[in-house]
Amino acid sequence: MTSFEQRVFSGIKPSGDLHLGNYLGAIRRFVPLQKTHPCIYCVVDMHAITVWQDPADLKRATFEVAAAYIAAGVDPEKHIIFNQSQVIEHAELAWIFNCVARMGWMQRMTQFKDKAGKNAQNVSLGLFAYPALMAADILLYKATHVPVGDDQKQHLELTRDIAQKFNNDFAASIAANGLRADFFPLTEPVIFGPATRVLSLRDGTKKMSKSDASGMAAIYMLDDADAIARKIRKAKTDPESLPSEEAGLSGRPEAANLVGIYAALADMSAEQVLAEFGGQGFGAFKPALAELAVEKLAPIATEMRKLLDDTSHIEAVLKDGANRARTIAQVTMSEVRDVVGFVL
Ligand code: TYM
Repeated sequence: MTSFEQRVFSGIKPSGDLHLGNYLGAIRRFVPLQKTHPCIYCVVDMHAITVWQDPADLKRATFEVAAAYIAAGVDPEKHIIFNQSQVIEHAELAWIFNCVARMGWMQRMTQFKDKAGKNAQNVSLGLFAYPALMAADILLYKATHVPVGDDQKQHLELTRDIAQKFNNDFAASIAANGLRADFFPLTEPVIFGPATRVLSLRDGTKKMSKSDASGMAAIYMLDDADAIARKIRKAKTDPESLPSEEAGLSGRPEAANLVGIYAALADMSAEQVLAEFGGQGFGAFKPALAELAVEKLAPIATEMRKLLDDTSHIEAVLKDGANRARTIAQVTMSEVRDVVGFVL
């Protein structure tokens, strides 16, 4: 069987302020992939509304995510940046996947369980079906590689299950339409490196998230230098000094988190960071980390602010990206309609 043309797809929800976890776990890793793959980076606004979003905030956050992609170094001319709702085929394929995926698969999703909590009867139907829309995002473009943080791993496994079940359920029709038997690819998650799960700066048992109530728990991409330095200075740690080897970080989640952040920002491994800082206390390590974070994040924030000052450039990028994404999406959808048996 011939291999798929390789293609990268990833997305971020415009549902709050972008933070260091989004940057290190996802956005930063989008950039180098442009050298080796055609890339599609989406602002997944239809995912955002699975929980209530104030319409004005949704627009602002959509521009912020697009600005972050561009400011971090994604090239919207060579690659594609767009917002999901402009390409309606996402919703169309998601519906078909709603009919392929099984209730039991969705009920196992830990993110749904975390988000719904004790309130499962009162969350939106969209929140439950969320992973089927995510599978549609990826498979509409037959993407082979998806760079994400660790928290998305289970959703990507489900995407593979949906692809596999679609390929099996419709095998005869796929063949009758002269299409390749593995119609949808089994997508590879791209999850590696020192910061695939950045933790809250206040609580080493929680991940850094857009919805954290304490402004001190997350470094936001639009934070200024003072805010970054203050949050790192106040980050929760333990009284021990840093070990000189990674094994010494076990059972010390807050220390491991700061070392991981340093490593990701400096493009080093955690081992290398510890070779440099082992034996030193946080009194020495935190200022070095703050300086590095400001050095790496401030230029991106400056560029984001510039782009957000006048959103007309971002709007043009999103429109052009959506037009190019739609061209690819329409080919897949017309094949899918034939395969499913819809009369055109
Ligand atoms: P979202 O918007 O929650 O997060 C965007 C990206 O940031 C990563 N991330 C983190 N990485 C490290 N540490 C953290 N604390 C942290 N918090 C978030 C996420 O793993 C993600 O890569 N379901 C997705 C959006 C989505 C998507 C897609 C992604 C929709 N369709 C298709 C890939 C492909 C989400 O909610 O991401």
